[in-house]
Amino acid sequence: MSGPILEVTDLTQHFPVNRRDVVHAVDGVTFSIQRGQTLGLVGESGCGKSSCARSIIRVYDPTGGRIVLDGEEITHMSQKELQPRRKKMQMIFQDPYASLNARMTVRDIIAEPLLAHHVVKSREEANDYVYPMLERVGLTREHAGRYAHEFSGGQRQRVGIARALVLRPELVICDEPISALDVSIQAQVVNLLRDYQQEQGLAYLFIAHDLSMVRYVSDLVGVMYLGQLVELCAAEEIYAHPLHPYTQGLLSSIPVANPKLAREKEQSGIEGDLPSPVNPPSGCRFHTRCPFAKEVCSQEAPCMKEVSPGHQTACHLY
Ligand SMILES: Nc1ncnc2c1ncn2[C@@H]1O[C@H](COP(=O)(O)OP(=O)(O)OP(=O)(O)O)[C@@H](O)[C@H]1O
Ligand SMILES: [Mg+2]
Repeated sequence: MSGPILEVTDLTQHFPVNRRDVVHAVDGVTFSIQRGQTLGLVGESGCGKSSCARSIIRVYDPTGGRIVLDGEEITHMSQKELQPRRKKMQMIFQDPYASLNARMTVRDIIAEPLLAHHVVKSREEANDYVYPMLERVGLTREHAGRYAHEFSGGQRQRVGIARALVLRPELVICDEPISALDVSIQAQVVNLLRDYQQEQGLAYLFIAHDLSMVRYVSDLVGVMYLGQLVELCAAEEIYAHPLHPYTQGLLSSIPVANPKLAREKEQSGIEGDLPSPVNPPSGCRFHTRCPFAKEVCSQEAPCMKEVSPGHQTACHLY
């Protein structure tokens, strides 16, 4: 197959919160991911990264837009139709404590998708996949009989990764897979994901809060603000020539090694509070916090446009 593994066009995900109000979690997001490549998706807490991910894996029914996986539109497929396609697309979650069933052994956690997708017929047969996978993620077959709560955070995330990879998916959505881990462990887990990608040629949608985390894994980087994509380009380009004032603000908050300081700085890097996604600002959603806002910015919503080859941004300054 040629063509991108994932194409997302004008994806919209709204959540009604009561009779009157709707959370505009995702509003018209468009991107595609080529086979074997990684798209890093970044933005502040609440900007809609996880909602985007969950719409794509169809935990939610998208409010609007189109999702094409491996050349096939899955936007409105029933769960039954989706089931055989799920093998191609797996997810790794942020919290390895919450996402693994505490009552299951590691063997059963990793065997479950194999059994669900009829790759194997029995737990015994599953071992042929489980043991090599455990070793591949840096654990051993002796770990198979243990329970997830017996492991450290980093080891648990390795189990979560093994479960996601055991079906040999073509796309893995990693929703902040390292944010909950100790800084010392983060690089190991990122390297594991990268090495595996080089071996198997799978694609990642790699979600993170800040640009520093996606730097070494991404081919392309997309920056989200209040449910919308505001900038999209090659990874090295976004660090060298950030165009959108929001991206520039995110980048100015990076070079702090101490995570606590970094968090404080992240909040002060961009002036003002994140507006409510229930009533997003008119025009450009960032205009209320933008140091360069002009009159047009509060009136007209800017579209994504290609400002230089392969570099798109949605901003009236360009
Ligand atoms: N199931 C839901 N029902 C109602 N509102 C939701 C639901 N899921 C998310 N939201 C809201 O949608 C917005 C986007 O949330 P989302 O979790 O997608 O953001 P995020 O970028 O992943 O944030 P974080 O970095 O904290 O994980 C938030 O305002 C959130 O409260
Ligand atoms: Mg999230």
